[in-house]
Amino acid sequence: MRLNRVEYTMMNNPLRASIQRRFEARRLLRMGGPLGGGAALEIGCGRGVGTQLIFEVFGANRVDAFDLDPRMAEQARRRVARYGDRARIWVGDATAIAAPDASYDAVFDFGIIHHIPRWRDALAEVRRVLKPGGRFYAEEILSDFIHNPVVRRLLDHPLEDRFDAATFSAALAEHGLTPLESSAFGGWVAWVVAAKAATAG
Ligand SMILES: C[S@@+](CC[C@H](N)C(=O)[O-])C[C@H]1O[C@@H](n2cnc3c(N)ncnc32)[C@H](O)[C@@H]1O
Repeated sequence: MRLNRVEYTMMNNPLRASIQRRFEARRLLRMGGPLGGGAALEIGCGRGVGTQLIFEVFGANRVDAFDLDPRMAEQARRRVARYGDRARIWVGDATAIAAPDASYDAVFDFGIIHHIPRWRDALAEVRRVLKPGGRFYAEEILSDFIHNPVVRRLLDHPLEDRFDAATFSAALAEHGLTPLESSAFGGWVAWVVAAKAATAG
């Protein structure tokens, strides 16, 4: 689902970009390591700061990215124009990713799956588009945060069937994405790097 006005503002400012660059990307890099080239996908790219970091911090050679919200996709397109045809942005849905099977060495999720009512469908899609041995780098927002009374007044999230860190890791494993590293900040945020099995299947 799209962001409400408050969350849209929270996601589109220099402070958010700085947190993503200084803490989130570095944490995921420590957990999952760099890509050293290769093709990556970012789901729910927002205004494209993550897409830029996948080039700059993770060392991808090519990055595709999409967002459900056309305003976000347009901002991302402008942000990564400097990468020419190494970056491709579109409007799309993480539960039906417009890419062939086994396209990417890595898929990145900077806090979008908790916005998806049928979030397990997105995990199945992530697995489908990853190459065998590919990695999924995820930062996710957990149910305690979503159900916090103050957060509920300010932000719009799907409320049914949200997940804690253990449920998210278990769902990854059920969808063929084996968690390699994980950490969490209380019941609010989890970071997981998971891998698709190296042999096809
Ligand atoms: C909390 S924001 C995070 C944006 C960006 N990843 C960041 O870290 O700044 C969640 C983003 O997910 C997008 N989104 C929500 N549901 C989606 C879906 N089903 N498919 C793709 N993007 C989605 C929203 O439009 C929004 O841009």
